[in-house]
Amino acid sequence: MTQIFDVVVIGAGPGGYVAAIRCAQLGLNTACIDEWENAKGKASLGGTCLNVGCIPSKALLESSENFERVAHKYSAHGINVEGLSVDIPVMISRKEKIVTAFTSGISMLFKKNKITSIHGRGKFINNKNSGGNWKLNIQSGDKEETVEAKYVIIATGSTPRKLPSIAIDNKRVLDNEGALALDEAPKRLGIIGAGVIGLEMASVWRRLGSEVTILEAMPEFLSVVDEQVAKEAKKIFTRELGLEIQTGINITEIKTAKNKVIVKYLDTQHKEQKLEVDKLIVSVGRVPNSTQLGADSVGLQIDDGGRIQVDTYCRTNLLNVYAVGDVVRGPMLAHKASEEGVAVAEEIAAKISGQVKEMPAVNLDTIPWVIYTSPEIAWVGKTEQELKASGVQYKAGQFPFMANGRARALGETSGFIKVLADTHTDRILGVHMIGPYVSEMISEAVVAIEFAASSEDIARIVHAHPSLSEVLHEAALGVDKRALHI
Ligand code: FAD
Ligand code: NAI
Repeated sequence: MTQIFDVVVIGAGPGGYVAAIRCAQLGLNTACIDEWENAKGKASLGGTCLNVGCIPSKALLESSENFERVAHKYSAHGINVEGLSVDIPVMISRKEKIVTAFTSGISMLFKKNKITSIHGRGKFINNKNSGGNWKLNIQSGDKEETVEAKYVIIATGSTPRKLPSIAIDNKRVLDNEGALALDEAPKRLGIIGAGVIGLEMASVWRRLGSEVTILEAMPEFLSVVDEQVAKEAKKIFTRELGLEIQTGINITEIKTAKNKVIVKYLDTQHKEQKLEVDKLIVSVGRVPNSTQLGADSVGLQIDDGGRIQVDTYCRTNLLNVYAVGDVVRGPMLAHKASEEGVAVAEEIAAKISGQVKEMPAVNLDTIPWVIYTSPEIAWVGKTEQELKASGVQYKAGQFPFMANGRARALGETSGFIKVLADTHTDRILGVHMIGPYVSEMISEAVVAIEFAASSEDIARIVHAHPSLSEVLHEAALGVDKRALHI
């Protein structure tokens, strides 16, 4: 018999599983369909983020950073370690334990909230004669079932973009999944794409001993980041971390040979160059997962880039069908996906209970970004280049970690924080950070921008001493040229 739900969510990544939990909290009879299987062929909830993205990459970044600290940084504290070694299989199995704890944690949350979890691929089927409900077919192996729901939330996420010239085998040529599962550091590691994944994976494997070369098509390094931060990052990543980063290149051929991968490319002078590596990571962006949803059978609108078209409230062109996360416009980030999931769940619950209130949309202008390199990079709001391009008049205040007591004590003095504020109103327009633990500090800037704070507001708030947050305080003081410790 066909099961009928109030809401069916397709996809159990941070967009889908959070939407399902919020729907259930609000009393809706909810099902969540997800097709993810882990390397052992077992269903595993949590999508890209928990299985092969945010969580495993941060586990390996932490492990490799600990190794780096002991190997290169502790001697400055008078701590000398002899006979240091690294056991990468142990590191990988620690990462896998963390992943399993979180993915099985989602199963428990589903049980606790009485969410029906269905394993398989979900797709729309023509909904004629189903009394206003959407009909979905779910396929898992040779098993098939149909469910119905008045409301559907699509949260099918994204998959790695492929290069036409090379197939990913996750043995020699790797995507993020393979890059997070190596059992030894390759002697020579090539990475195509100096984006977020490229830089995080380069950090892990460089610290564990690989010689890393990154080939980037764009002429500028990290073009989405504030130019000054990107410049500082490139300097630190090349000089201190020892990454070889080449920008403005054009890949012409990639071939795998018995024990190596050969990449041919044109450099900025259009001269042919050859790179030979033991493993190659391809990290050239991600594409939305929208092709297997039966979109045509119901007329779901998808744009040329494969993103499901939605309005500011994540409503698609179909009545009562929503889409959230990587499969729609906006940054491909877990926290953005989850917040959209919550907003949509609340709108559906309001509709079902007959309330006609307009729900607040997720503000895409205040989504924080973090790149978990060392030093970390974090930002929210507009970059200086964006403000210049749009002709907005702004003032900038900046303060270096070098002049901060806590950063000195930590021995992590690279980087700075920059606050950009409107010249006339002093309202904060953007905050850009490169330095230790800035992933933890960016939230203060997000709150400030969300609450329309001025740089003076931050300047007048008392920040604990000694703490890294004093760098933000001083940068805010710097907007009015009154930083105290520089
Ligand atoms: P996903 O997490 O991709 O989940 C979609 C789910 O839907 C998957 O389980 C998929 O199998 C399932 N699915 C797809 N189609 C169907 C179907 N037809 N039927 C049933 N199930 C289906 N973001 C951050 O914010 N911070 C980070 O530190 C971070 N690190 C990352 C590191 C890496 C290496 C990668 C690859 C990504 C990282 N991201 C990070 C991005 C983050 O993982 C994504 O933005 C986030 O997972 C998107 O969530 P989502 O729910 O939209 O989709
Ligand atoms: P990305 O968009 O960050 O970077 C891809 C890079 O590859 C770009 O610099 C692009 O110019 C380059 N590129 C594209 N085609 C190329 C080619 N043919 N040759 C050479 N270079 C080429 O994408 P990435 O790193 O794959 O990550 C995907 C997304 O996952 C990120 O944009 C982000 O949304 C998310 N993510 C977030 C993380 C975080 O929040 N810390 C960590 C990792 C991923």
